[in-house]
Amino acid sequence: MLLRSCCVYGAGILCVLLLIAGIAMALAQVFQKLINNTIKEQVVLENGTEAFSVWRDPPPPVYMQFYFFNLTNPAEVLEGDKPFVLQIGPYTYREYRPKEEVKFMDNGTRVAAVNPKTYVFEPNMSRGSEEDIVRTVDIPVVTAMEKFKDTLLVSRIISDVMKAKGIGMFRTFRVGDLLWGYEDPLLKELKQFVSDDHFGLFFKKNSTDDGDYIFFTGKQNYQDFARIDEWNGQSTLNWWSTKECNMINGTDGASFHPIITKTEKLYIFSSDLCRSIYAQYESDVSVRGVPGFRFVPPSEVFANLTINPDNAGFCVPAGNCLGSGLLNASVCKEGAPIIMSSPHFYQADNKFVQDVLGMNPNKEEHETVIDVNPLTGLLLRGAKRVQVNVYLHQIPAFSQTEKIQTLVFPVMYLNESIVIDEESAKKLYAVVTKANVIVNIPFIVISVGILLGVIFIVFMCRQQTPASSEQQPLLSS
Ligand SMILES: *[C@@H]1O[C@H](CO)[C@@H](O)[C@H](O)[C@H]1NC(C)=O
Ligand SMILES: *[C@@H]1O[C@H](CO)[C@@H](O)[C@H](O)[C@H]1NC(C)=O
Ligand SMILES: *[C@@H]1O[C@H](CO)[C@@H](O)[C@H](O)[C@H]1NC(C)=O
Ligand SMILES: *[C@@H]1O[C@H](CO)[C@@H](O)[C@H](O)[C@H]1NC(C)=O
Ligand SMILES: *[C@@H]1O[C@H](CO)[C@@H](O)[C@H](O)[C@H]1NC(C)=O
Ligand SMILES: *[C@@H]1O[C@H](CO)[C@@H](O)[C@H](O)[C@H]1NC(C)=O
Ligand SMILES: *[C@@H]1O[C@H](CO)[C@@H](O)[C@H](O)[C@H]1NC(C)=O
Ligand SMILES: *[C@@H]1O[C@H](CO)[C@@H](O)[C@H](O)[C@H]1NC(C)=O
Repeated sequence: MLLRSCCVYGAGILCVLLLIAGIAMALAQVFQKLINNTIKEQVVLENGTEAFSVWRDPPPPVYMQFYFFNLTNPAEVLEGDKPFVLQIGPYTYREYRPKEEVKFMDNGTRVAAVNPKTYVFEPNMSRGSEEDIVRTVDIPVVTAMEKFKDTLLVSRIISDVMKAKGIGMFRTFRVGDLLWGYEDPLLKELKQFVSDDHFGLFFKKNSTDDGDYIFFTGKQNYQDFARIDEWNGQSTLNWWSTKECNMINGTDGASFHPIITKTEKLYIFSSDLCRSIYAQYESDVSVRGVPGFRFVPPSEVFANLTINPDNAGFCVPAGNCLGSGLLNASVCKEGAPIIMSSPHFYQADNKFVQDVLGMNPNKEEHETVIDVNPLTGLLLRGAKRVQVNVYLHQIPAFSQTEKIQTLVFPVMYLNESIVIDEESAKKLYAVVTKANVIVNIPFIVISVGILLGVIFIVFMCRQQTPASSEQQPLLSS
């Protein structure tokens, strides 16, 4: 009898203790903090860590896919009609992007590296080949027109050369040439005025690096993990103040700091966009079974000045704004009249969509997305989607342009995408599952407490109510 009440009261006391301990641990987030600290210590660029090897040589394949807009009515466009384009592609390349010449600096708080990218054509993931023909605007021609439009003598020479050689504003190209470079007939004639008579959208980009980077390792502050500090000797913060071709607080595109919250902004650097843009939390996702947050650039990133005055910095030259969804990249492209946007002018003024027949913007296909595992900051899936357009308008010095409408003419868009590989996903799944179990320890403790509480109450009630003759001997035995 004494032993029984001891047990019952013991259970009652234990129940209260467990409930107090469990609730205290849950409120203080002891285990959450423990896990966060462990992850913060592990996710650091340090020789020998997993984070370092993933950063140096990311295991999942990266694909670069190009889509071109094939112009069907060049003669009519020159007469002032709307262009009618047909999308072709994708032309898919596997992208290899290891970090090289990796050197740790400043007691391991920063690391220097170069990041050459190599592109290898993937016929199986392409529709068409590099031999395909595409008709579009001749970018060296319009660039030369734009550059020398106010120089009477040179513009006369260019105009005459174009007429003599039958060079127009539109012509056909081999897809491989337009991407990787070809000798341009007009530039060849103008050799004395230009530095290089070759042109290509990705000319000299294969197997070359784009300069010396210095990254933070995250050792001092986990939020700086893999963040670019300097590029070619320039601090990225100074770049922000120049407002041109800037690269602010960017990452190398595939590494984010651990412990990501739903309220923060993720910055992504894009050398194609000439700037960095930010993305905000949109929804919860699951990629190969691993939980993640989807981040997308909010429409304010692309909005015009009325809606987002912060975008004033992106009107170049100052005060010269093109409308929502467009970015003048001329300064970053050696004076070529290049305008960047989202594919099919997604999230841009409807005017630009209407001006070109064949545009069909939609969220699923044309938005840039980042799916990231919030605990570790690892990229689960990403797609960077950017369109290259050319600004066309009447230039008095060139009679070829006398009837053309002012147009933002789409040439090509790209989708650079990555999905976590099966093996990395498995490893990450194990980490996330383990973390979940640990985080739930307070709730397990609370559950045990509640169970004991129930047992305690049941026994107490039985003690109070008159016991049946059958139960009495069983319980006291
Ligand atoms: C990492 O450590 C290995 C072996 O100690 C060494 O050979 C290598 O150079 C180190 N790498 C860097 C980037 O310091
Ligand atoms: C590196 O660490 C050592 C010892 O902790 C310290 O004396 C030195 O000042 C540090 N150097 C830098 C560049 O932080
Ligand atoms: C890029 O270079 C690699 C080797 O350096 C080569 O295999 C590949 O075909 C090249 N890609 C293009 C598009 O020229
Ligand atoms: C693009 O248009 C040109 C001219 O009409 C045509 O010859 C070419 O086959 C088209 N390209 C593709 C890939 O359909
Ligand atoms: C970049 O990061 C630094 C330090 O984390 C911060 O002070 C600065 O405001 C950030 N710049 C932008 C443009 O977000
Ligand atoms: C900015 O965009 C909004 C909505 O698309 C439009 O109503 C407004 O007129 C635009 N402002 C300018 C200056 O273009
Ligand atoms: C784009 O910027 C360049 C250089 O700053 C400028 O000359 C050009 O007029 C701008 N283009 C448009 C369409 O505003
Ligand atoms: C890339 O985006 C395009 C549309 O923008 C889509 O058709 C394609 O499937 C995407 N590629 C990958 C590998 O997800």
